[in-house]
Amino acid sequence: MKDTDHLKSHDEFASTYDSQVKEYNSYSNEVLFGMCFEYIEPGESLLDLGLGTGLSSVHFARFGLEVTGLDGSEAMLNECRKKSFAKELKRHNIQQVPLPYLDRTFSHIICCGVFHFFGNLLLIIKDSFRILQPGGIFAFTFAAQTAKEKESFSENLPDYIETPSAWGISIFKHSDEYIHSIAEELGLTILKEQKVLIDSGDNDTEDILFKVIVMQKNVS
Ligand SMILES: C[S@@+](CC[C@H](N)C(=O)[O-])C[C@H]1O[C@@H](n2cnc3c(N)ncnc32)[C@H](O)[C@@H]1O
Repeated sequence: MKDTDHLKSHDEFASTYDSQVKEYNSYSNEVLFGMCFEYIEPGESLLDLGLGTGLSSVHFARFGLEVTGLDGSEAMLNECRKKSFAKELKRHNIQQVPLPYLDRTFSHIICCGVFHFFGNLLLIIKDSFRILQPGGIFAFTFAAQTAKEKESFSENLPDYIETPSAWGISIFKHSDEYIHSIAEELGLTILKEQKVLIDSGDNDTEDILFKVIVMQKNVS
């Protein structure tokens, strides 16, 4: 599947996305906000990567942060515009770096429910680090590898594995070691991690293990 095909599929789901999130009891956006709460202040700026209809960043906006959002789907952005909480919304494929911002632009960055669509995460995390202010947090979700999946690799655990899903697209599950090694390479301190199970959307398929992770850009 080409990048653009994958983004078209998000266009198709835009108008029903919020109701699907409720139907599948998929509240990782609220988990992410709760985990960030102690590090944010009203008046700070927030970039939401792949903000969709804005379900994650709307919590930050309600708390008084100024939200900017990027998404590759115009239909998703249009749904978000109807909610009128964001300062700026822009169409951008976030796999294309550099992101359209100067170094150290944002107080904080979030990315909820997006990285499982990507294999390699180094470039996007590295560029997010560039535009994040020192001391700022970068919080995101990723699909994690289960103990059973890890067992199937006797050694040389891969950075990510691509697996089919009941959602009709394949998803990438990243190893903790991969995510942690990127954080260490860049100078991001891991503050919090939380496992969450996401409904597979199909009674015959096991729920999917995700992680919410909060990192902080070192000040020096
Ligand atoms: C599952 S939704 C999550 C939306 C939102 N972050 C939330 O927490 O509800 C995934 C979003 O990521 C966007 N997305 C996926 N791949 C992208 C890419 N390469 N560039 C920009 N946006 C992308 C989709 O258009 C969609 O809006």
